[in-house]
Amino acid sequence: MKKDGKRSVRLSRFHGKLARRLALAGFLISLVLGFSVWVHERTVVGDAIVSRALLGTANFNAQIEDLIEASGVSDRKAVQRELDEYGTRPGVPDPKGDFVLVTVYDSEGGVVAELVETGYVHIKQMKSLVSVGPPAFPAVGDYELEVARVEGIPHVAIALPLTNRSGDPVAYIEGIYAVSREAMAGIRRGVWETVAWVIAIVLVTTALLYPTILTLMGRLTRLSLSLLDANLETLSVLGSAIAKRDNDTDAHNYRVTLLSVRLAESMGLDPPEIQSLIKGAFLHDVGKIGIRDSILLKPDHLTDEEFEVMKTHVQHGRDICERSAWLKDAIDVVGHHHEKFDGSGYSEGLDGTEIPVRARIFSIADVFDALTSKRPYKEPFSLEESLEILSKGRGIHFDPALLDLFLEMAPALYQEVAGREDEGLRREVERLTQRYFSDDSEVHFD
Ligand SMILES: [Fe+2]
Repeated sequence: MKKDGKRSVRLSRFHGKLARRLALAGFLISLVLGFSVWVHERTVVGDAIVSRALLGTANFNAQIEDLIEASGVSDRKAVQRELDEYGTRPGVPDPKGDFVLVTVYDSEGGVVAELVETGYVHIKQMKSLVSVGPPAFPAVGDYELEVARVEGIPHVAIALPLTNRSGDPVAYIEGIYAVSREAMAGIRRGVWETVAWVIAIVLVTTALLYPTILTLMGRLTRLSLSLLDANLETLSVLGSAIAKRDNDTDAHNYRVTLLSVRLAESMGLDPPEIQSLIKGAFLHDVGKIGIRDSILLKPDHLTDEEFEVMKTHVQHGRDICERSAWLKDAIDVVGHHHEKFDGSGYSEGLDGTEIPVRARIFSIADVFDALTSKRPYKEPFSLEESLEILSKGRGIHFDPALLDLFLEMAPALYQEVAGREDEGLRREVERLTQRYFSDDSEVHFD
């Protein structure tokens, strides 16, 4: 029940993570798409304004082309009248916007006619946008364009040649087209409405995806948890199988696992290393499965030959662990738990720090448990006797630094672990194991 409770907490933590990540992703996509739409809309609107300015100029050109001779503008007053008429034509001011400043030049750069919308609020700034003195003469079909914003209102300064009926450029017009405030407000409203729609669509899509992703990821997490359970059961079953042959109880495996983890925690070993240590502690003697009963269960001392056979349990254990990807990292302990710090151990005769740290930790726990437990051939030693025996192995059997640390912890560990075979011990080790392995079964976003 407690395991289920913890798992539901982890799943709800996962739900929260997923919701936050999706919301963030949705927000960022909305931001990027919204900005892109805004830029696009602005370009479209800008192009539309320029088109209106060009169209207005073309219309005026058509209106006055009869007044322009091949040699130039002959009737300047007529052009001024046409320009005045253009400025007072029906529908002016256009609610979308209009020219607020127009100047017609002849081919020499002299002013032929001028229209100034004196009532326009930004007319002074507009005058600063137009050319000072005779302007450059653009080629036919070409124009010069400048867009300036005054208080957020775009103004298009446009300059292009005016042609007569024959299409000859004989005059030149410069004008400033101002978009009306009302039109600008409408444009802004339209752009923001489009952006808001895009953001809403992205967010709704994200929200719709949430339950689907949640279901799939939840299923994945549950499968991972089941796989973890299966792996931990394998660990426990293999450890128990050999214990049943050897001791008739698997409490030794639970005690040495607990002792090893306590020492590893105290020396600050990383959690992944502790995971491997737990696997190794459970399976340290799994290779004894390959030792025949006449040797494994012999009540007397083993002969030299028999001891050589017994030593092969280390290699058998290594072979068993190598067959499983999940158990491979237990090999440090399984393959080296009988090494000694001075190099006199087996199976490889490694010494000092050549012996993997997890094996050096485990060998202290293993011997301490053997000393403090009852065996068919002996009663348990007291704490003092056990520590004295361990101390004699300092630098010979055991890593001195690790042993010193263990000796400090030993009285408390003796109270907590020594000789225990109860169900509480099993539950405690299972909790410890779940704590170190459960994070691996969660789906991470990092
Ligand atoms: Fe062993």
